[in-house]
Amino acid sequence: MTTPERSTAERTGIVVLVSGSGTNLQALIDAAADPAYGVRIVAVGADRAGITGLHRAAAAGIPTFVCRVQDHEDRAAWDAELARRIGDHEPAFVVSAGFMKLLGPQVLSRWVVLNTHPALLPLFPGAHAVRDALAAGATETGCTVHVVDSGVDTGPVLAQATVPVLEGDTEEALHERIKAVEHPLLVEYVGRAAREGITVTDGKASIP
Ligand code: GAR
Repeated sequence: MTTPERSTAERTGIVVLVSGSGTNLQALIDAAADPAYGVRIVAVGADRAGITGLHRAAAAGIPTFVCRVQDHEDRAAWDAELARRIGDHEPAFVVSAGFMKLLGPQVLSRWVVLNTHPALLPLFPGAHAVRDALAAGATETGCTVHVVDSGVDTGPVLAQATVPVLEGDTEEALHERIKAVEHPLLVEYVGRAAREGITVTDGKASIP
């Protein structure tokens, strides 16, 4: 049995935001190569120039843009400009894949934003989740796909996967093992949100 080809028009457009190496972005790029996945990455945005994530997008022929906080008068102006740059590509929703800035109300009021975080939220929110889990002596940690709200990693959770912390783990080694489960989890939930739709009501996120 063959899966019917989806035309570009049937694919859901998403903008992916990155700040670094972009391995989660790469997992999405690879998945989106299959039309049946139902996702077209219409642009990749970053808060800094020259990062590997942007190179990955360019190599895949995806339009990119950079919107740096320091080029704006204040956070509100940056938020408005980021919303304008995202809006240029008319995505159905936005994915924050290692984007290390808090998004503002202009972006969050216009799009559902899915985020991937390298810990079992609500444990270890923030920018150093893997380091914090190690420092706390956690015996297991993992990753979370959730919808972004105005807090720091506080939005409604869609899915989580667990990773054991091993004796003698370094931050780098543990983060690599987390990424190994994070990539397929993000790919699964971005695909489902694109194909089935995602709603956020009264602080609860659901994919039918
Ligand atoms: C990912 O592990 C992601 O969960 C994390 O940054 C990494 C980015 O890796 N995000 C956060 O810590 C957000 N609080 P990547 O650039 O290789 O995808």
